[in-house]
Amino acid sequence: MTADEVLERLPVTAWHGPFDPAIQARAIEALECGKVLVHPDLPFAIEPREARLLDPATLGEHGKNVSLDPQTHRLSNTAVPAADAALLAGMMQRFADAALALLTGLLAHYTAQLERARTSFRPAEIEGRVYSPRRDDRRLHVDAFPTRPLAGRRILRVFCNVAPDGAAREWLVGEPFVDYARTLLARVKAPVPGTAWLLHQLGLTKRRRGQYDHIMLGMHDAGKFDAGYQARAPRAAVSFPPGTTWICFTDQVVHAALSGHCALEQTFHLPIAAMLHPEQSPLRVLEDMTGRRLVV
Ligand code: SIN
Ligand code: FE
Repeated sequence: MTADEVLERLPVTAWHGPFDPAIQARAIEALECGKVLVHPDLPFAIEPREARLLDPATLGEHGKNVSLDPQTHRLSNTAVPAADAALLAGMMQRFADAALALLTGLLAHYTAQLERARTSFRPAEIEGRVYSPRRDDRRLHVDAFPTRPLAGRRILRVFCNVAPDGAAREWLVGEPFVDYARTLLARVKAPVPGTAWLLHQLGLTKRRRGQYDHIMLGMHDAGKFDAGYQARAPRAAVSFPPGTTWICFTDQVVHAALSGHCALEQTFHLPIAAMLHPEQSPLRVLEDMTGRRLVV
């Protein structure tokens, strides 16, 4: 595979529209068929007083990201001194607003149904850290989260590389979702009866985990633990230098993040009814393959 097959490069150089209707049409079609939209010249402006935040020391001890909750505006997993917390939250909130403005202009069709989820800042270098296989995003996967069942809703993410030292974020982009699912679906075992109920009772999931989320998680884990898949599955290397902004459905695009530091990321959720082509969603693809409804 080549980078050209998996990327759609767009001449978008502003976070706010209006954008040319022809560009908007290209963007939504490419996104829904599983490409990564890339804006090579769309930097996110970091203010001079924020520059000191672009440092791995900004990160707390629990995990890879600092995150900002859209409802409470609270930060989690940061080690910045209290005096810098507002500065960091402000930078991340500005990115959240920019990402929303970008999608509102570029993917106007989604706007009414787009739900804002967490904003993250990823200051630490990916390469050379130690991760458990399940949490190792250097392995090819599509995103699936154990605690937050989506029941078929899409995961749409906007990333921007803000590394101050010129380091690119290096990704692999893998095969089309249907091929990923053809390989991995058969490895997903039926859930142990009562598990979804129990996880929810224990507060380990935000709602009951249904069949769709069970399958997505199962494929995520089976793929990450399969050394053969990791070694041999089709992939293209793609590089996102600082100043690049990229957008994709990370529940559909098979990806791995190999190296890089200092990225901002905004997550959105989207019901499949908002899509131009819902039949391209992972939910519909998996329902077709299993012959069952996976969301009740
Ligand atoms: C991932 O979703 O696998 C990580 C992407 C990144 O941080 O670049
Ligand atoms: Fe991922």
